[in-house]
Amino acid sequence: MIPSASALLDWYERHRRDLPWRAPPGGRTPPYHVWLSEIMLQQTTVVTVKPYYSRFLSRYPTIEALAKAPQEDVLAAWAGLGYYTRARNLHACAQQIAALGAFPSTVPALRALPGIGDYTARAIAAIAFGVPVVPVDGNVERVTSRLFAIDTPLPAARRLLAQQAAILNTEPAAQANASDFAQALFDLGATICTPRAPTCILCPWQPRCSAYAQGIAEKLPVKTPR
Ligand code: ADE
Repeated sequence: MIPSASALLDWYERHRRDLPWRAPPGGRTPPYHVWLSEIMLQQTTVVTVKPYYSRFLSRYPTIEALAKAPQEDVLAAWAGLGYYTRARNLHACAQQIAALGAFPSTVPALRALPGIGDYTARAIAAIAFGVPVVPVDGNVERVTSRLFAIDTPLPAARRLLAQQAAILNTEPAAQANASDFAQALFDLGATICTPRAPTCILCPWQPRCSAYAQGIAEKLPVKTPR
């Protein structure tokens, strides 16, 4: 059974996390801000990213300002976040976008940019531009594996989970609210459908969750031992 997109969106309206890169209800975060937050969040937790994100934007309020900055300064502003390839790609990407004159808005055009893979392209397209695609990160894989009780181990299950996650997105309410829908999935995975001790009792999708029905939510997703 496909879970109800509206149930998730209603839950999100009531319980959404207040994050600095998140526009108030009804608003939309500028693409530059969405992109910056997604690059920072690639290998770093929300709690760590918050102060860096705000400082970085005070220093480089526009993508043009970032594009024009010397690389050493950008790396210095990134200091502490680690994985400096991200900062070098960020700078190169800002220069390409400044030269284009507009922020690319489709998944293929975003993927062509430095430092933007499939997940990040989908996150930017959905959150900043409302393109109805689902960005599949570890949180969304976990939610999906539980909803459909998929016990194929990761990483082998990755393609299947992405296909199933795409099904979540087929309802008109999800298509029409792609930005909120993507962020609602992140919040569900981060606050309810957690790796350990998920709070299924509070979950808007509990009535449609196969893993919950079978009492195996916490056992999923299965991971092949490294
Ligand atoms: N993780 C990755 N992207 C995120 C976002 N936009 N909000 C919250 N958590 C995230």
